[in-house]
Amino acid sequence: MRQILITGGAGYIGSHTAVSLVNAGFEPVIVDNFSNSDQSVLSGLKRILGQDLLCYEGDCNDRALMEKIFQENNFEGVIHFAAYKAVGESTKFPLKYYNNNLNSLIILLETMSSFGVKDLVFSSSCTVYGQPDELPVKESTPRKEAESPYGNTKKICEDMLRDYIKSGVNSRIISLRYFNPVGAHPSGEIGELPLGVPNNLVPFITQTAAGIREKLTVFGNDYNTPDGSCVRDYIHVMDLANAHVKALEYLFKQGENFYDLFNVGTGNGNTVLEVIQTFEKVSGSSLNYHIGPRRPGDIEKVWANTDKINNVLGWQAIYSLEDSLRDSWNWQQKLGEKG
Ligand SMILES: NC(=O)c1ccc[n+]([C@@H]2O[C@H](COP(=O)([O-])OP(=O)(O)OC[C@H]3O[C@@H](n4cnc5c(N)ncnc54)[C@H](O)[C@@H]3O)[C@@H](O)[C@H]2O)c1
Repeated sequence: MRQILITGGAGYIGSHTAVSLVNAGFEPVIVDNFSNSDQSVLSGLKRILGQDLLCYEGDCNDRALMEKIFQENNFEGVIHFAAYKAVGESTKFPLKYYNNNLNSLIILLETMSSFGVKDLVFSSSCTVYGQPDELPVKESTPRKEAESPYGNTKKICEDMLRDYIKSGVNSRIISLRYFNPVGAHPSGEIGELPLGVPNNLVPFITQTAAGIREKLTVFGNDYNTPDGSCVRDYIHVMDLANAHVKALEYLFKQGENFYDLFNVGTGNGNTVLEVIQTFEKVSGSSLNYHIGPRRPGDIEKVWANTDKINNVLGWQAIYSLEDSLRDSWNWQQKLGEKG
């Protein structure tokens, strides 16, 4: 079996990528400290895959643990998801974010180098673009100053990876700039599991529909967009998961000292109000929401130009916004049944 280490593999995107990897004939091995995930993800994965996945509980900043994991396995590549990702929290505790998100990448690269593992896919984000001057945003569009310490960690990690490859190491790396991941595995066995009050729109919508939250606030309806609410590119998490497999397979075919980056989005923008209306349609329920003031730090509109990933990796999104919201709602309802 072709083993792939997935750091943060018990998290939202990592767990779905584990499914895609198994479907593509790989053997994912997880390392996660469960700081933002739950052990129940592993049983959800088992129900989907019909097999247990090897999972190490621990911190990617623990060099001795990382060395042990590399010693005990024979990795062909690594996907590095492990990071803190809450934008608001990062403005309150910047050092927590710089410490976790930067150090874990440095320790990972050093461990990969000692064990001769060359190939890495890194989780970056469209947050590096800020409010871009051109839309849809291309990989070549200049990045803006980061709006938050979290966003800055992604910019710095991208720069670190580029410098690392430039230094002539025998390594191959792709950064994937995710747009807005939504949805859940269609089985409803795994999905997004926000701890506390969700920061993202879709979990807030599904929790409001389930009666966990009283009402959803739409942050502003006076933006320069078709209905005044913010525009984002919402991508189904299984499409995003499959992009990691494509990226790995592409890396395996490259020569030494390779670095590239790709947008991963649908290529379409939807407003917050369109997402709400689509959710109401697929769930058959009416959502309790109101319009509030703009939220500081929110970008007005961003969506991806996906030509590069479509043409170079041969990947494209296949799920629609309806599919994403139906799967998110299915997942929320299953969570409710489990209590
Ligand atoms: N979800 C999004 O909207 C989004 C968008 C763009 C980029 N990203 C990036 O994608 C990656 C995965 O995001 P996600 O939504 O799946 O987040 P998540 O929080 O669900 O998953 C991250 C996982 O990493 C684990 N983790 C964090 N620090 C760790 C450490 N030091 N050692 C071991 N495990 C650790 C957490 O417990 C969690 O299970 C992150 O790097 C995130 O910044 C996410």
